[in-house]
Amino acid sequence: MSEVRVEVPNQDPTKSSKVLVQPYKPCDILVLFTRIPLIVCFITSISVVLYSAFSTQSRGSRFYLPKPKSVLIPDQRPTNISHILFGIAGSAATWHDRIRYTNLWWKPNKSRGFIWLDKKPGINNDGKIVHQTENMIPYRVSDAGWTRFRYSSSRSAVRIARIIWDSFKLNLPNVRWFVMGDDDTVFFTDNLVSVLARYDHDQMWYIGCNSESVEQNVMHAYDMAFGGGGFAVSYPLAEKLVNVLDGCLERYYYFYGSDQRVWACISEIGVSLTTERGFHQLDIRGDPYGLLAAHPVAPLVSLHHIDYFNSLFPNRTQIDSLDTLIHAYRVDPNRILQQSFCYDSKRGWSISVSWGYTIQLYPFLLSANNLAMPLQTFKTWRSWSNGPFVFNTRPVSPNPCEHPVVYFLDRLEKVGQTGTRTIYTRSGPKFGKGCDRADYVKAMAVKTIIVSSLRIDPAYCQKATLRPCCEIMDDGSIKDGTMRIRIRKCREKEIMAV
Ligand SMILES: *[C@@H]1O[C@H](CO)[C@@H](O)[C@H](O)[C@H]1NC(C)=O
Ligand SMILES: *[C@@H]1O[C@H](CO)[C@@H](O)[C@H](O)[C@H]1NC(C)=O
Ligand SMILES: *[C@@H]1O[C@H](CO)[C@@H](O)[C@H](O)[C@H]1NC(C)=O
Repeated sequence: MSEVRVEVPNQDPTKSSKVLVQPYKPCDILVLFTRIPLIVCFITSISVVLYSAFSTQSRGSRFYLPKPKSVLIPDQRPTNISHILFGIAGSAATWHDRIRYTNLWWKPNKSRGFIWLDKKPGINNDGKIVHQTENMIPYRVSDAGWTRFRYSSSRSAVRIARIIWDSFKLNLPNVRWFVMGDDDTVFFTDNLVSVLARYDHDQMWYIGCNSESVEQNVMHAYDMAFGGGGFAVSYPLAEKLVNVLDGCLERYYYFYGSDQRVWACISEIGVSLTTERGFHQLDIRGDPYGLLAAHPVAPLVSLHHIDYFNSLFPNRTQIDSLDTLIHAYRVDPNRILQQSFCYDSKRGWSISVSWGYTIQLYPFLLSANNLAMPLQTFKTWRSWSNGPFVFNTRPVSPNPCEHPVVYFLDRLEKVGQTGTRTIYTRSGPKFGKGCDRADYVKAMAVKTIIVSSLRIDPAYCQKATLRPCCEIMDDGSIKDGTMRIRIRKCREKEIMAV
């Protein structure tokens, strides 16, 4: 998100006449940049004049005049990765093992922050020493003050709740946001920046998301940001929070988690949670497929609990799966997991793309509201039940002929400056046995689906987001088991209806 992408509309790989990506306007920024020094200069000179006029000559002056160096101009430039200070909750005992999850998303010399441990890590379970390298998130040991607080269930929850205090006390320059997460959280930092850039960091904000499982929200709180999904606290709120935190930790010693303590303290300040649906606590068990194949129209910010559910991709480890997903994300950050729907009206097929991950092909027509509803391939976190969740789900039908044919991302190509081609190949039956009805067999003959799209400009992401439209290419012809589709911005009057 930190780089300004130069958009070259003519290099549209799909020969589209429409340009999906809104060209970035460098002029606005330039104007802003040229004005800032002018304003600084103006205010400084007035202050200097006033200061020298009153302060030095009339010592007993009744007027209070600020010293010139205390004049502050708020930095209105867009938020980028350098403005975020990450505070990741870790422990010496699990550091060796969990550091590979942070390594997946940490950008050396770009991301700022620390993983906070209870003590220095020693040797790991295999007796090997894992060395901190400069490409890894650096660790710090939490201020020992946490040990004096009362607790009822988990002692480390106190320490973790205090990470925001530890982070704030470092007094690092130009921090706009404190972002907390766990050592098994994967952040999609470009999208985190896109989301936070929409908010005024000089106001008090508490941004994150609650749990997917209703039972978790009932037990903890609905309006709390669950810590594993990560949450962001703006500087002014962090400042106020840090001042009241220790007293507050005493008052709420009986809570279970660190995130609940932070939530309780923030609610005493009077700030409520702003929900962003790209933060994922992922309090689910089993197969996360249905959820990730029908992500809300919002940039993907985080994934948590990645060790606790099935691998995202079949026949791959979770780390390999996440690597694949992150590879696609790097090519077009804002589009990762974004859904779009295509209808093949001739064949009566419905196709749902979750970009960079999977495609579901239904050999029948299914309305947009159904396609946007996750197939319930997963269970609740605590009791492994079939719900309820904080969103609607569609049950996986016992009839195999009602299942979609499923494709997973196989490879991807950049096309020109702004385009991408993602290639998805059919997996074995995802939900048990297959269906041998004629229409289903025809759909099964599609072995590969190639999706073309233009990269989404981060500036476009600052506006209200719409689910993009999708169209079948080549008049729907299937050559060598390959079908081509294109994702593009919807036309003015276009809707996805069947
Ligand atoms: C982030 O923005 C600041 C201005 O607030 C700028 O000085 C800095 O160079 C930017 N960093 C990146 C990585 O774009
Ligand atoms: C990060 O910065 C340090 C010091 O500036 C440098 O030695 C190192 O090569 C950089 N690492 C990466 C991965 O860019
Ligand atoms: C996993 O791999 C096996 C053997 O290579 C293959 O038969 C099976 O279809 C694969 N599973 C999926 C879901 O692709």
